[in-house]
Amino acid sequence: MKIVSIIGARPQFIKASAFSRAVSETNDVEEFIIHTGQHFDSNMSDVFFEQMGIPKPDINLEIHSLQHGAMTGRMLEKIEAVLLREKPDWVLVYGDTNSTLAGALAAVKQHIKLAHVEAGLRSFNTAMPEEINRILTDRISDCLFCPTDTAIENLTQENIPNNKLIRTGDVMYDSAFYFKQFAKKPKDSIPENFILATLHRAENTDNKMRLESIVSAMNQIANRMPIVLPLHPRTAKIMADYNLKFSKNIHTILPVGYLQMLWLLDTCHLVMTDSGGLQKEAYFFNKFCITLREETEWIELVENKINILCGANERKIISAFSDNINHKHIFPAHLYGEGNTANQILNELLKR
Ligand code: UD1
Ligand code: UDP
Repeated sequence: MKIVSIIGARPQFIKASAFSRAVSETNDVEEFIIHTGQHFDSNMSDVFFEQMGIPKPDINLEIHSLQHGAMTGRMLEKIEAVLLREKPDWVLVYGDTNSTLAGALAAVKQHIKLAHVEAGLRSFNTAMPEEINRILTDRISDCLFCPTDTAIENLTQENIPNNKLIRTGDVMYDSAFYFKQFAKKPKDSIPENFILATLHRAENTDNKMRLESIVSAMNQIANRMPIVLPLHPRTAKIMADYNLKFSKNIHTILPVGYLQMLWLLDTCHLVMTDSGGLQKEAYFFNKFCITLREETEWIELVENKINILCGANERKIISAFSDNINHKHIFPAHLYGEGNTANQILNELLKR
């Protein structure tokens, strides 16, 4: 069987590493990897391939830093050409980025079977580009790998036929579970007892008032506990454009590799983020998460009171920190599977 995996953004490299590892353990599958080029700095791309043993992409389309339409459209055109040449049995896409949607469209237009990993997640906020990407990808997929019961319910509500839905765990847990033994301290100087933060979501960075409010809340919290913030290049650029500054107690560092991120997750006191992936990783490491968004796709974390949604509300963010800093939270076991989701996915594709 031949599978084309389409990846392009940081979280997709982390998810895809688990699948490529499963493929490497069988002789039945040939994987061809298309990197769209969406993320391109070496600390946003190459580092994951090196650290996680992901096979070098068979092709890199080098499409990045464009508006949504131009980016998705150019990816679609180039992916289609590769699919016409490679003639795979399946195309596999991950998550909710522009690379996901472009890959999905290219596959179905050529009548190639399409599988979506991390299907069925919904924020119900269609102003998010990711929500549009996920809804459309799910709508046209032949096989939808759902990491939670909520994801299955969401797709059932949208009348996606039941025989296309497969309940698995979450591939990000596979990656954290496998790689945590290799966690590595970053080269940067890291303070004792710190908060690990990330910030990159378009709804926060592209709205000056929201960004100012989050930065102000973080600056105040950092007076009480230092924050380590590996800064996404998108946010770094926008902070400079808006002339916004983090306080000296916020240790901004360049994006780090996955092994360094696992070390930071293991060592930190709590997590503050607007990332999808990091909310789950906080849970994998038994860390409370303050989420800088109005809603989350990972609703079971909120229901279990180990994640709190604060949006960009300065007062709510500061209170969430004060209320939870010394609280003993209870982390339920195995919300996202047992660490063998990639094998489940591969076995299902081999059966269909
Ligand atoms: C994208 C995804 C988002 C995901 C995030 C993961 C979409 C619509 N968004 O957002 O869902 O959470 O990736 O990190 O697909 N940049 C660099 N170097 C890089 C990558 C980006 O400088 O290696 C800068 C460029 O100026 C670029 C900007 O960041 O224009 C935004 O990058 P883009 O890939 O469009 O969106 P992300 O914010 O990374
Ligand atoms: N990550 C990383 N280095 C960093 C910041 C994040 O390796 O400097 C990892 C993080 O641990 C998680 C993934 O990147 O596995 C999340 O990606 P991101 O937040 O960019 O995207 P999202 O999950 O929000 O789509």
